[in-house]
Amino acid sequence: MRTLIDVPFLSAVDQVAREEKLLVREPSRALVGAIQEVSAAYNALGRDERARRPSTALPDALSARLHFFLPRDVGKAYEAARDLMPRLVQGARVRAVDVGAGLGASALGLAMAVRDLRPDVTLALTLIDDDRAAMAIAEKLLVRLFPEVSAAARFLSEPLSAFSPQGDVDLVLASNVLCELERGTELNLRADRLAALLHRWTRGLAPDGHLVIIEPALKSTARALQAQRARLIAGGFSIVAPCTHLKACPLLVDEGDWCHEDRAISLPSALIPIARAAGLHYEGLTFSYLIVSRASLPVTSARGRVVAPPRDAKGKRGLSICHDGGDAARGTLSEFERLDRHRGPSRDAWVAAERGSVLSMNPWPEPGRVDGEVSIARLGNGER
Ligand SMILES: C[S@@+](CC[C@H](N)C(=O)[O-])C[C@H]1O[C@@H](n2cnc3c(N)ncnc32)[C@H](O)[C@@H]1O
Repeated sequence: MRTLIDVPFLSAVDQVAREEKLLVREPSRALVGAIQEVSAAYNALGRDERARRPSTALPDALSARLHFFLPRDVGKAYEAARDLMPRLVQGARVRAVDVGAGLGASALGLAMAVRDLRPDVTLALTLIDDDRAAMAIAEKLLVRLFPEVSAAARFLSEPLSAFSPQGDVDLVLASNVLCELERGTELNLRADRLAALLHRWTRGLAPDGHLVIIEPALKSTARALQAQRARLIAGGFSIVAPCTHLKACPLLVDEGDWCHEDRAISLPSALIPIARAAGLHYEGLTFSYLIVSRASLPVTSARGRVVAPPRDAKGKRGLSICHDGGDAARGTLSEFERLDRHRGPSRDAWVAAERGSVLSMNPWPEPGRVDGEVSIARLGNGER
């Protein structure tokens, strides 16, 4: 398992916690209790339509968010942003807006991805949240961790309804925020209002701009996100990731299915005692996401995405792959397996594939056994 949060990140969090007079990072009863309460409030959003946006009035909620949820959510934004990196123009100045930024997890994840993968790119960040206390923390963290990015950043304590891009934004990041909006509204009306919001944001992007949406990996929130995907495609927008096709999502057919990530990323060791005490996972990073392009993109066939954990059996490996398929309207979910005795680079690609990997196969095989003649390659993040 990889970890994305390093010691300088944790030191910055600790310094900000001290300055803001928040709880210190230790598995104390107060911090662990607050983490459990915030976690329960987030989970309720996926279970109960009537649940409202978690109250900032929960005691020590900011401490819980800073020490536990922020380091976790930065990783989700980093992972999603990796798919976007190959699409940024060389040397570009990217005007990015983090909506519902909270403590700045997405902005920080994006800044980390740019630092690691596209240092030629400059970020002009705007963070928006109506929670003033959260914005103050986001600003302090960005100043400490990315001083050069923070110098050009804006922090707006205002409601999202005030945000209406007019072709002057290259990237909108909306992480763990859709699930908090329009709560308490009838189900269909809520979906309509969120669709209108997503269309407004996407239409308002610069011509080659992108919208990155991250939601919890809960069944209800992930399925709701895939339903919004269909409406965005119907509105003329394209999907860069995770999907390799623009047809209807085959994972929406069975009510028990939902498309989500489970990356081999763990919290840093310093946070493991706290996660353990709170009874929460510290290994495996789960989320669902969508990268939407305002421009329509060419559809490349002969690719598919692994959407479940690989199945290893003696002498063979099975993969569940979502792909374009033969149906005119809906994508196809197929089970494939390949024998280990077929050697060569195709074997390496097949064996290295994990949930979330995108594979090209040529010629595209029928479901079932993939023979040694099929040439297989694992594509990089965001590669089309
Ligand atoms: C779960 S937090 C997510 C924070 C961050 N994006 C992340 O992924 O960690 C949701 C944030 O959205 C903000 N939010 C919810 N509804 C909002 C609204 N109508 N206007 C502005 N901010 C809002 C909340 O204050 C909260 O900070």
